[in-house]
Amino acid sequence: MFRGFLIATALVAGLSSVAAVAQNNIIAERQQLMKGLGQAGRAPAAMLKGEQAFDLAAVQTTLKTFADSAKKAPSLFPVGTETGNETAALPKIWTDKADFDAKWAKFAADAEAAQGAVKDEASFKATFPNVVRACGGCHEGYRAKKN
Ligand code: HEC
Repeated sequence: MFRGFLIATALVAGLSSVAAVAQNNIIAERQQLMKGLGQAGRAPAAMLKGEQAFDLAAVQTTLKTFADSAKKAPSLFPVGTETGNETAALPKIWTDKADFDAKWAKFAADAEAAQGAVKDEASFKATFPNVVRACGGCHEGYRAKKN
């Protein structure tokens, strides 16, 4: 009986640490996805500043990464991942989830529309800055500022 209790207790403790690991994995996955966004945005940002030659294929690859990531992102903020893994996610994500998810949806739609709209350097310069406005527009309010 007592042994059974010990085993059951160990099992419960084991399961909750499994849950904690799973939560940290999800947080790590979304941080990785975010790093991917930063990475993908680097070349087009340099093109906008004239530090790098315009490259249509590279811009299209970035826009596809943006759209794919934006569609995946809302699923990486489940309830239970508010803390852990040094997350910078603010509680407002979970109290205002509809608005947070709508921001991802708009970012995805803008990135997809830009895939059609960007055909040359001029259309890139006219379109891309509006797409990346989503980054700051969401970090402001939903992401803790680093000290
Ligand atoms: C709808 C909201 C939203 C949008 C849009 C968004 N982000 Fe984020 N971003 C977040 C949140 C929330 C975090 C904090 C995640 C965490 O720590 O759990 C974050 C974190 C980051 C990080 C830090 C990742 C790390 O932990 O090292 C980078 C870099 C980043 N975002 C880049 C971008 C870029 C670039 C774009 C636009 C192309 C973008 N984000 C668009 C919400 C957003």
